[in-house]
Amino acid sequence: KKASIGVTGLAVMGRNLARNLARHGHTVALHNRSAERTRKLVEEFGDEGEFIPAYSAQEFVDALQRPRQIVIMVKAGEPTDAVIEEFAPLLEQGDVLIDAGNAHFADTRRREKALRERGLHFVGSGVSGGEEGALHGPSIMPGGSKESYESLGPLFEDISAKVDGEPCCTHIGADGAGHFVKMVHNGIEYADMQLIAESFDLLRGAAGYAPAEIAEVFKTWNTGRLDSYLIEITSEVLKHVDAGSGKPFVDVVEDAAEQKGTGRWTVQIGLDLGVPISGIAEAVFARSLSGSKPLREAARGLGGPSRAPLNGAALQTFADDVEQALYASKVVAYAQGFNQIQAGAAEYGWDIDLGRVASIWRGGCIIRAKFLNDITSAYAEEPGLPTLLTSGGFRKAVEDAQDSWRSVISTAVRLGIPTPGFSTALAYYDGLRADRLPAALVQGQRDFFGAHTYRRVDRPGSFHTLWAATDHSEVDA
Ligand code: 6PG
Repeated sequence: KKASIGVTGLAVMGRNLARNLARHGHTVALHNRSAERTRKLVEEFGDEGEFIPAYSAQEFVDALQRPRQIVIMVKAGEPTDAVIEEFAPLLEQGDVLIDAGNAHFADTRRREKALRERGLHFVGSGVSGGEEGALHGPSIMPGGSKESYESLGPLFEDISAKVDGEPCCTHIGADGAGHFVKMVHNGIEYADMQLIAESFDLLRGAAGYAPAEIAEVFKTWNTGRLDSYLIEITSEVLKHVDAGSGKPFVDVVEDAAEQKGTGRWTVQIGLDLGVPISGIAEAVFARSLSGSKPLREAARGLGGPSRAPLNGAALQTFADDVEQALYASKVVAYAQGFNQIQAGAAEYGWDIDLGRVASIWRGGCIIRAKFLNDITSAYAEEPGLPTLLTSGGFRKAVEDAQDSWRSVISTAVRLGIPTPGFSTALAYYDGLRADRLPAALVQGQRDFFGAHTYRRVDRPGSFHTLWAATDHSEVDA
């Protein structure tokens, strides 16, 4: 019997994906650079399903039924190219290589093109949900050709998470579309995490809640519209008390957030595409600031406001106000992320169904949340929706939240508590809804110092004002 799929790279993510496939009744060929991991997987988990261990590239390829489907789960970058070069020469027309790591979509586009020219399919697939997700059901975002999805789709849908009986896996679009969407997923993940962290900081700094009390607040929020995996785990983290010191766990962890780079990619590409994803950008910058040790050390004594914490009615409603601010900011962050996917699709010619993307993020992935149902509905009601903020449900919810949102940010400003995520989200909201922006003045400045020209509101064409002339006369540019 031959295997219906193979996995090469059997570190924890690859191992768990292979086990997940086998547990679903698929025969899985196994391969790893060092034989030890392959042997160990079969030894420890061989009874979970059918595995065919292979100890050379040729043996691995021979173990697979056609079209061969090989999932590559190695480090992004050069190791991925090396593995592709190891297998591609052994494959035949129509075989499918799948990169399930966190590759940059530009690399995926390059690889897909090169392999297509050699008659092979290359699928860059986002996989979210960490080790547990890989084993029990991740959210899967495969790109590549439609043809490759015919054989791969049923397998991936089978092992993905399910919500309301629907698989959290869909064909995203051609070449790098899957990795692009996974990248934006991670950017949104950063924004979501930052907003939740700011909520914690405000509840503690402005209202004096203890971490364990905040854990309870989050637990309550998790029964409402903010119901999500990230709120749930945040509550767990806040509840946790460090065994050694007896202190809240959050107080013994160094306050420098690290990053592997996918959030940074999202922002870099956002800049390239000209999409204002300020919520994601602030989240990435907040991590950078937190990690700038010498800078923070040097600035520690800088003056701030005297902190008169909240009391009375403001204190009473504060947790509810923060919930509103978090919700509204979250809508903005997602609206920006979905706009980035839209812009990427336009730039690279991908046909991406935004409502479907939201629906496959409902389960398995890190940003899984009830809220994503509302995004799917918003795009179902209006497929060409320019921004989630103008869709019926979100529009009303954000309008209703805005008084609290503004008041929470004023409190933060007054007390000197940094809320880059909340603040940038509100600035974006106010910027979008403005009748006139001061950008007109910026155009004037550009025209003054660089003759960069401007357009007018009252007639078509490009114009330049002769700023050096005494009469400041205007000419067609
Ligand atoms: C997922 C996650 C995962 C990511 C890290 C986060 O969807 O399962 O997004 O893919 O690599 O969890 O990365 P940072 O180290 O950048 O926070």
